[in-house]
Amino acid sequence: MKPEQENNIPNYSSSYWREHEATREFPSLQEDIQVEAAVIGGGMAGILTTYFLTKEGVKVALLEGDVLLNGTTGHTTAKVTAQHSVMYDKLIKNEGEDTARLYYEAQVEAMNTIKSLISEHEINCDYKNQDAYLHAGTEYGKRQLEIEKKAYEQLDIPGELVYDSPLPFDTKAALKMPDQAHFHPVKFLQTLIDEIIKNGGLIFENTTAVNLKGNDDSIKVETRNNYSVTCDKAVMASHFPFDDTTGFYFSRLHPERSYAMAVKTEKEVPEGMYLGVDEPGFSLRHTEIGGEKLAIFGGENHKTGKSEDTLRHFNNIKAFADRHFGVQSVPYRWSAQDLITLDEVPYIGQAVSGKANIFVATGFKKWGMTNSMAAGLLLTDLITDKPNRFADLFAPTRSHLELKDGKSFIKENVDVASQFVKSHLERGSIELDELQKDEGAVVNIKGKRTGAYRNEKGELLLVDTTCTHMKCELEWNNGERSWDCPCHGSRFSVSGEVIEGPASEPLSRVNLE
Ligand code: FES
Repeated sequence: MKPEQENNIPNYSSSYWREHEATREFPSLQEDIQVEAAVIGGGMAGILTTYFLTKEGVKVALLEGDVLLNGTTGHTTAKVTAQHSVMYDKLIKNEGEDTARLYYEAQVEAMNTIKSLISEHEINCDYKNQDAYLHAGTEYGKRQLEIEKKAYEQLDIPGELVYDSPLPFDTKAALKMPDQAHFHPVKFLQTLIDEIIKNGGLIFENTTAVNLKGNDDSIKVETRNNYSVTCDKAVMASHFPFDDTTGFYFSRLHPERSYAMAVKTEKEVPEGMYLGVDEPGFSLRHTEIGGEKLAIFGGENHKTGKSEDTLRHFNNIKAFADRHFGVQSVPYRWSAQDLITLDEVPYIGQAVSGKANIFVATGFKKWGMTNSMAAGLLLTDLITDKPNRFADLFAPTRSHLELKDGKSFIKENVDVASQFVKSHLERGSIELDELQKDEGAVVNIKGKRTGAYRNEKGELLLVDTTCTHMKCELEWNNGERSWDCPCHGSRFSVSGEVIEGPASEPLSRVNLE
């Protein structure tokens, strides 16, 4: 249905991070080239991997299908923390104490590296030390925090339970992890992009990689515009791995969307970073503009393609902000898509067994700032043949996944399969004539489920709503004006172009005649 500028929420999605920094522009690839390593994906993980590799003297080409930093990195809440919701108790129980400890240590190493890069390159990226809090408003949530605190003790993670959090509403308890941070990721990465160029790295935007071919001696990355990058090693840091011919990542990752908005509030928001453990689990941090605090609220997660009205989520966040802090205005709002692995630990390393020179970094859950840094450090070590103690932790081919996470695997796939059946049984919901300007919906055209969007000029854009990945049916996302796939998270523009994989082919256009 039609997105309204309701309650002063911006009509179109605009990320605070993207609006405040103009990124440099780079050309698209216009010839076949040869390098030592190709990195596909210009988000934080791809940029950091490229940066570290070029620092090691490796000749690298970074390919991005869109422009740099326009994916999840540009649409984050940018918390630099090892407090990834309630996670450590679960990790201990499911994967063991050693794994849980390693995960924490990988996050700490990532945080320290971010800090040292800021210092080394004198990056002004609004980095600010903050305590992180998980807070609970229910007895159940409080119990979860008490259990998580015990996991902190077991793993020697600094933290304390507090009963008087700085939040202006009642909390039963909060679990504080001190000395975490937040920052401006786009400002941070801009400097590293400049460093990549200084180090001799190559960057190509609007260059979509579509195929990975070859063997261990030589890999060929083919692009949509028929050029290629020949390399010794290739990294897929494209959020969902752009080439999933043998890795079956579609069955090992599930996509979730979440929402964020920057708000000028009547009451000043407190120092610190907050995440509620009760549903729907709103998050809060702030940034400063000209000495004034701008609050950033987030939350309202759901599986991609499984919300009938995505704008509703922004209204819910705004209502929460208004209730507790008073909303003066909402200058920015944006949403992001996150990929979650079977055991909630990212996949970073060799993408599939038997192909030693093809690597992947994906499945950062909602914690892309530190996990991207962990990916950059680990992939650089793997590519330059250095040992790294986190290699087994993040190995995408870790064998225990097949055993311990079998139930999850089946659940995800049954879920996907039922969505497939359900959506194929559904047929159009409204008539074409009812569509207003800037409104999209599934319509029924001659008995065929069709995606329709009427643009501001009144022109109709009609697409076949069958996803080009594995034929699930797409749903309309009215907050972002996109066609989203509930199965593995592919997203398409109103004219059918791929915004986000695993799909690589655009939707078929439907002609009324
Ligand atoms: Fe896999 Fe759509 S993303 S079927």
